[in-house]
Amino acid sequence: MAERTSEVVVIGGGLIGLAIAWRLAADGIQVTVCDPTPGSRTSAVAAGMLAPVTEVEYGEDELLALNLASVAAWPDFAAELESLTGQSAGLNRTGTLSVAYDVDDAAALRRLADYQRRLGLDVEELSGREARKREPLLAAGVSGGVWVPGDHSVDNRQAVSALLRATELTGVQLERQQVARVLTAGTTAVGVELEDGSTIRSSQIVAATGPWSAQLKGIPEELRPPVRPVKGEVLRLRVPEAYRPALHHTVRATTRGFSVYLVPRPGGELVVGATTSELGYDTRVLAGGVFSLLRDARMVLPITDELELVETVAGLRPATPDNAPILGPSGLDGLLWATGHYRNGVLLTPVTASLIAETVQTGTVPDLAAPFLVSRFATGEVMPKVAR
Ligand code: GLY
Repeated sequence: MAERTSEVVVIGGGLIGLAIAWRLAADGIQVTVCDPTPGSRTSAVAAGMLAPVTEVEYGEDELLALNLASVAAWPDFAAELESLTGQSAGLNRTGTLSVAYDVDDAAALRRLADYQRRLGLDVEELSGREARKREPLLAAGVSGGVWVPGDHSVDNRQAVSALLRATELTGVQLERQQVARVLTAGTTAVGVELEDGSTIRSSQIVAATGPWSAQLKGIPEELRPPVRPVKGEVLRLRVPEAYRPALHHTVRATTRGFSVYLVPRPGGELVVGATTSELGYDTRVLAGGVFSLLRDARMVLPITDELELVETVAGLRPATPDNAPILGPSGLDGLLWATGHYRNGVLLTPVTASLIAETVQTGTVPDLAAPFLVSRFATGEVMPKVAR
């Protein structure tokens, strides 16, 4: 059976894997990405929120620092991608408006805004009327809002397309096959076996395997990362010309305790997301998911009823026990993780790519990545501590 070599093998051609491969190849490193259908799963389903502020959770300070670093990195990342490929990277820097439907939602939004301010984040509280000045088509009943100028969005499908082109232009080898298993010699990863039985030998392997990370074969049981799939359903609506733009900014809404976001694209698409369910690897779009997204969207944007429903889709977020990614050494020499990005995969693409590229090239984990080693989940002898 054929055997090749590659300086680096990246398993997984989603946004994260493609961006890592591009970064390494741009530095002259020979890279192979293995994925039967690159960019077609989680990266294609996502709504593309860049939302470190509006998605901040109480007590996740280290993740917030990483998220803020990545939102700051997006403009240069997009500009570099665009100048190399001549394609748009899909970055849309128009800010985010969080709105509340009833008085209880408004109280929750105010509490969150207090917390965001204590963290030094840029948020401005608005009355319902002020929120409607920014977004005139919001429902008359919207009771209040918070303007977040630093949270943006990316058309994730454009970003995938630009990254695929960038990898092609920088000489990344794309192997459109599933990795059957990681090959090891003792405690060292030495390559991968593909589904056709051929192998690629490599001393540096990066697993950007998202929700499928714990299923990667060849990794000793005790080194499997605690990553699980969390399903999200997403809708894509088309705004008729006469109503465009239905929204000028990303709108995130809390409606009677439920949350929904509406992400406008310049071409008239409105992405509505997302449900959150723990159903394993189930990617069926359920009627209840579509119903709840439309119910919540139309409460804050009544014109939703007039929009064409052009796509319903479900994807899997790679979740970890603390909602933060797993970056760096795996405990198996020669294998790095770049996984577990949960709700922040699109957001964390630029910073993950540069942190992992640096780790590959220097053999050292940069300080910003240090809190995200898999060893933080070590439980005594089950998962050994790994050296930085
Ligand atoms: N970051 C959006 C989501 O996970 O739904």
